[in-house]
Amino acid sequence: MDFRRKISTKHLIYITLALAILGLGLSFIGCVAKAPSEPGAEKDISSVYTSESEAEPLKPEECGRCHTRIYYLIVTEGGKHRIDCRQCHVQFHIYRPGKEPYKEILPKCETCHENVHGEELVQCSGCHSEVHTPMNIPQGSALEQGCYVCHPKADKEMKTYLTQHTELDCCACHHTRHRYIPECTECHQPHAVGGMTHIGCLTCHPPHKALQVVYPKDMPQESCFGCHRNAYEMLKQSDTKHTALSCTECHPEKHRAIKRCRECHGEPHSAAMLQKYRVCGQCHGVAHGLNQEKFPSKSREKTESPYGTGHK
Ligand code: HEC
Ligand code: HEC
Ligand code: HEC
Ligand code: HEC
Ligand code: HEC
Ligand code: HEC
Ligand code: HEC
Ligand code: HEC
Ligand code: HEC
Ligand code: HEC
Ligand code: HEC
Ligand code: HEC
Repeated sequence: MDFRRKISTKHLIYITLALAILGLGLSFIGCVAKAPSEPGAEKDISSVYTSESEAEPLKPEECGRCHTRIYYLIVTEGGKHRIDCRQCHVQFHIYRPGKEPYKEILPKCETCHENVHGEELVQCSGCHSEVHTPMNIPQGSALEQGCYVCHPKADKEMKTYLTQHTELDCCACHHTRHRYIPECTECHQPHAVGGMTHIGCLTCHPPHKALQVVYPKDMPQESCFGCHRNAYEMLKQSDTKHTALSCTECHPEKHRAIKRCRECHGEPHSAAMLQKYRVCGQCHGVAHGLNQEKFPSKSREKTESPYGTGHK
């Protein structure tokens, strides 16, 4: 095997060399010999340049043979710029150093586009930095100057609900490229809360006003547990009818919201009694613990009923 390969490689080199020399010689002879000696040459040429064969303009893939990089940019990410090169490049290959300034011969956006984003964003190429892939917009200062123009809502929220996020640039979170959405956990540990890890941070925290915590009605109690262990355990241990209720029934939707007793119970006692004792907790204690022991009713024998006979 080895031996045979050595031979054949050697042979190959010789053969190639010989052919190359032969080819060169032939073509040389052809060149010198052909032109003057054949009177029929003109006929041959005219058969190539017939009056019917029009010089077709180059198609994009033909431009692409030389401008490979640009061609493939357009093919893969050109978006709506996947139009004929020459629709934009009405003139090309006319650059003459010192005569035609390079910038001048290149197409201008305003030939085909208005100021689509308004008067504030007119430096098109600042953001659309590669025209052959116009929607591939890289991160950078030009784009960042414009966030507020196109996203006034996010911008306003950040400035209205001041949190430590307000001090971050938009691109601190929306880094890498336009439309990138970060994970909260890129910068934060989840609160160490049993059962919370599977609940998305965004369920509770709107990112542009992170302290305006809201949550849906079916938020499990465990997600409150880590920060409110006392409330949770008190409710569990008190074993009243409130124990069966979820946190979010009494603390609905917005964090720190507290539903008043009367929103659920209406007027549970006589008007006269409620006039005298304005705070339900005076008798019932806290909602988490509804302490029956403290009820005057439990010691009715010893003390006069404070709410009279009208009480149910
Ligand atoms: C939507 C319009 C548009 C289309 C379509 C388009 N171009 Fe361009 N092209 C431009 C503009 C605008 C520039 C100038 C960019 C700049 O200022 O850097 C440019 C620049 C160029 C350049 C100079 C690049 C350089 O880096 O200096 C070449 C070469 C080129 N285009 C080739 C092509 C080819 C080949 C095609 C088709 C396969 C094509 N273009 C399609 C608008 C277009
Ligand atoms: C045979 C190879 C070849 C073909 C085919 C070709 N180009 Fe070029 N083109 C060049 C070279 C070489 C340059 C100068 C070097 C450079 O800028 O890459 C150039 C430069 C350019 C430029 C920038 C400078 C200028 O003078 O305009 C544009 C735009 C351009 N070509 C567009 C096109 C378009 C559009 C097509 C197809 C219609 C095309 N080219 C076909 C080789 C080619
Ligand atoms: C020869 C005309 C022409 C020129 C020059 C031109 N465009 Fe366009 N551009 C178009 C057309 C046509 C569309 C698609 C029509 C539409 O949906 O509005 C388009 C679409 C776009 C889009 C949206 C692309 C997408 O996929 O949704 C962007 C961004 C854009 N152009 C930016 C530019 C910028 C920046 C320049 C200058 C560097 C420029 N264009 C120059 C014709 C042009
Ligand atoms: C501050 C950055 C910025 C500047 C400056 C800018 N654009 Fe855009 N442009 C964008 C972004 C971001 C998008 C939306 C991309 C997306 O939808 O993901 C966009 C979208 C577009 C679109 C497609 C959507 C539409 O609204 O029709 C066109 C066309 C366009 N730009 C053209 C232009 C032209 C022309 C200019 C210059 C007059 C320009 N842009 C200047 C950032 C910019
Ligand atoms: C020229 C206008 C324009 C500029 C400038 C712009 N955007 Fe956008 N952005 C858009 C458009 C259009 C969309 C698509 C909106 C949609 O799908 O509802 C978008 C979408 C987004 C999205 C959402 C993606 C999603 O999946 O919902 C984020 C995040 C975003 N932009 C962040 C930014 C940030 C940060 C900046 C500044 C660095 C910025 N944008 C600058 C026009 C712009
Ligand atoms: C602390 C990180 C953070 C910062 C800072 C931030 N964002 Fe966001 N943004 C997010 C996250 C996370 C989402 C995804 C929200 C979702 O999926 O509901 C988002 C969504 C968006 C969206 C798409 C949804 C929407 O609300 O329209 C836009 C647009 C956006 N951000 C723009 C901005 C702009 C503009 C700024 C700067 C003023 C900014 N963001 C600052 C984290 C951030
Ligand atoms: C790019 C990093 C980054 C991302 C992504 C991020 N944050 Fe923050 N966040 C910070 C920084 C920095 C602070 C300031 C305090 C600190 O250093 O922890 C902060 C503070 C906070 C605060 C306290 C605000 C205050 O004023 O006390 C909350 C709540 C918060 N982040 C929630 C979130 C949530 C929810 C997400 C996902 C939507 C998120 N963060 C994504 C960087 C980030
Ligand atoms: C059940 C709702 C809920 C979920 C889910 C949630 N949080 Fe929170 N988070 C809160 C509440 C409530 C606060 C306290 C807000 C206050 O101080 O007013 C808070 C505070 C924070 C703070 C600032 C205080 C601190 O502990 O440093 C950060 C940062 C934070 N959350 C990040 C996250 C991240 C990251 C996730 C997802 C892994 C997440 N949160 C999921 C409700 C939630
Ligand atoms: C990341 C920690 C955290 C989580 C998770 C959390 N809270 Fe809080 N909560 C706080 C902080 C901090 C306060 C303010 C305590 C203070 O001011 O002393 C608070 C206060 C409260 C208050 C009292 C409001 C007042 O005015 O006294 C209620 C009610 C409350 N939270 C309910 C909930 C509920 C319900 C959940 C679960 C859906 C929850 N919290 C989840 C941190 C948290
Ligand atoms: C039946 C209604 C009800 C339920 C269920 C309930 N709470 Fe409360 N909670 C209240 C009321 C009312 C207050 C205000 C103090 C009071 O009057 O008892 C309060 C106060 C609080 C406070 C602030 C004072 C404190 O005790 O720290 C926190 C935190 C709190 N609740 C968390 C929770 C959590 C967490 C759950 C679920 C485990 C929960 N609550 C379930 C009604 C309820
Ligand atoms: C979200 C609605 C809601 C709120 C707010 C609420 N409760 Fe209740 N409460 C209930 C329900 C439901 C029951 C059970 C009724 C039944 O089964 O007949 C109940 C039962 C009770 C009972 C009877 C307990 C027992 O175990 O027999 C008392 C006493 C009571 N609530 C007092 C209060 C007081 C005081 C407050 C305010 C601090 C309050 N509740 C706030 C819904 C609520
Ligand atoms: C002066 C003490 C006192 C005050 C103040 C008071 N209650 Fe009561 N409440 C009682 C007693 C005692 C009972 C038990 C009655 C019984 O056993 O029949 C009771 C029973 C209840 C019950 C349970 C009724 C049932 O069907 O089992 C509810 C609900 C209730 N109270 C809600 C409230 C609310 C809401 C307030 C404030 C608006 C309030 N109470 C104020 C002493 C009071």
